[in-house]
Parts: sequence; C-alpha cells; structure tokens
Amino acid sequence: MPANKNLLILPGDGIGPEVMREVRRVIDWMDRRRMVTFNVSDDHAGGSAIDTYGTPITDETMEKAKAADAILFGSVGGPKWDKLGFQLRPEIAILRLRKELDLFANLRPAIVLDPLVDASTLKADVIRGLDIMIVRESTGGIYFGEPRGVESLPDGQKRGFDTETYTTSEIERVSRIAFELARKRQNRVCSVEKANVMQSGLFWRQTVTALQAREFPDVELSHMYADNCAMQLVRNPRQFDVIVTSNLFGDLLSDLASMLTGSLGMLPSATLGAIQPSGKRHALYEPIHGSAPDIAGKGIANPLAQIMSFAMLLRHSFGMEEDAALIEKACVNVLRNGLRTADIMAPGSARVGTGVMGESILRELDKLAA
Ligand code: IPM
Ligand code: MG
Repeated sequence: MPANKNLLILPGDGIGPEVMREVRRVIDWMDRRRMVTFNVSDDHAGGSAIDTYGTPITDETMEKAKAADAILFGSVGGPKWDKLGFQLRPEIAILRLRKELDLFANLRPAIVLDPLVDASTLKADVIRGLDIMIVRESTGGIYFGEPRGVESLPDGQKRGFDTETYTTSEIERVSRIAFELARKRQNRVCSVEKANVMQSGLFWRQTVTALQAREFPDVELSHMYADNCAMQLVRNPRQFDVIVTSNLFGDLLSDLASMLTGSLGMLPSATLGAIQPSGKRHALYEPIHGSAPDIAGKGIANPLAQIMSFAMLLRHSFGMEEDAALIEKACVNVLRNGLRTADIMAPGSARVGTGVMGESILRELDKLAA
C-alpha cells in the first residue's frame, strides 16, 4: 500500500517523547495488522528545538507542518527554558503553529469513560456519562492581540498590557464549527464570554446570536458568563453539550473540564483550520496536558491522551472512523481491565507505567482486530 498519509510528529519536551513512543507503537501495529502505512517524519519543537536549533520552532519545521496532512504534537515547556525570556519561550512552538496554519478551532472533548467514574475528584453521580465538547477559539483573542507589551510610565512605574480582540469573521468561523458539531450531538451550543464586563465579550455574544438566527435556527443557543460557566461545570456539568468560547476562557475552562474526567492525562484535542479549495485542511492533534516536567523521564506518565489524540487524527484528518473507534475501544478496555497509571490510580486497580499501558493497548488491539 502506498504511504500517502503524511504525518509530522513533534513530541516536544518533558513527558511528550515518552507518551509519543506509545503512539509510535500503535502506528507500527496499524502498519502490521491493518496495512495502513503512514509516512511519518519527526522533528523538534519547543525546548528540544531551542536546544537543537536555538529557536522554539524553525522555519523548516513550519514548512514541514504546512506540507503534512496532519500534525501530532506532544507538549512543550519546562523549567530548563524558563529563563530565556518571552521571545524564546518553548510555548512559541505551539502558538506559531496555531497562528501560521490558521488552526482556529480547538476541539477539546471531555468524556467520562465508565471505568474512570471514580477517578474524578467530583462525585460519580455528577459526572457519570458526561460528554461535552469545548470549542476553543485558538488563533485570536488576548493570546495574539496587539498592542501588547510593557511600557515605562512618567512616574517611574511600568505598565504591562495585552489586548483582547475579536472580529466578526473570527467569531463566526469558530461558532460555525460549534453549531455544526452540535447538530451531530445534542444540538445545543452554549456561548461563553464576559459580556457584562468586556466590550469584546458583548460583541462576541451579539455576533453568535446573529449567526445562529441566520444559519443555525435549528440549533439551541444559550449564553453564559465565563465565571458562571466555571461554576456550572463543577456543579452540574451534564447540562452542557457544546461550549464555544474565546482562546483564554477556553484554555481555563478546558483544564477545569479535564478534571471532571479524572485526570488531565486523559484529554485529547484536535485543532482544525479552514477547509481549503483543495479540500484539505490543516490540523494538529495534541493532548491538553502539558509537558509535566515533574514526572518526565520516570516512565509513569499516562499515554492515553496522546494515543486518543492520534485516534482523533485518524477520524478528522483521514476519515478513518473505524480505526479511531478501535483505538478508543482498546483504551477503554485496558481501563476496564483495571490498569491505571498513577494519575488515575484507584484502590483495587493495578498501577502501571507508560510502557506497560502502551503494551496493554496493543494487546487489546490484537484482541479486537482478531
Ligand atoms: C494549552 C496550553 C497552551 C495554551 C500553552 C502551552 C501555550 O496551555 O494548549 O492549553 O495556553 O494554549
Ligand atoms: Mg492550557
């Protein structure tokens, strides 16, 4: 079979390379057992790129990313690179990828898998069966808004500032993705901002309202202030279906939502760009957890979010629904069999490291594909 699926893998820093190793084993398994061959290339990003190339992401790597059919990203950052200054942060790697590939819709599903109901810090009754989708805008807002900086004031003080900004089209294109997703789910979108405090928040609310009336009258739309949304997510998370929100609020609320599912180590994500005239769309897949420098190199990190990010990649970039579902099923089965990494450990379960978790998934895949 020709290898026409071009995949760029950027493991990054910290636990990134460890959890990515387990994805590579899944890719090899698919090559062997399902005769699906990927044309995989690897590169550095973040701190590892600073160490190798002197910059968080090189122009060459950006070119590779633009040419790839899909990008599988690990995580970046760590104390080692903290002192390099704002212009040389490892995080620039992911921010530049999002911005230059125009990956504006960051899909962050928070799903409570049945075997993990007791791993959440919230009561089982509150989170059982939870399935929400946070659609986070990811190329605009205060992450990229100008002006930004630190200036000196006449009185000797300094003033630091960033700008929250959203245009009509920026709000509309990410909201369209949310409405379209809702149609395939429970048909409900909750748009989240601070229209009570921020001018850009009020504009966000008005723009989403107008778009819904014009293009998605069949989808139920509600609005919520971001602070209330944070509260409602822990009070009664199942009231939500799809949440659409800005870059910064989406960053906060998705970390919060991840803990409903038991662990930050469980959440995959997909970041999609617009569909181009060629029919192709840039897309990047990454776990929402960070590089977790505190546990890096110990072989104890949970590889599930990275593996499930790969499943999302198969589904959204290659239309390989069957293979995606197979991998997700294997993850659930391994948990059902009682295997747990430290972050989701529960009494009566067997605590395993990254490698054993990965191996067990391959064994489940063998069984499921037999
Ligand atoms: C995320 C991360 C990033 C973000 C960092 C690493 C720049 O927290 O993907 O949620 O803030 O977007
Ligand atoms: Mg974050």
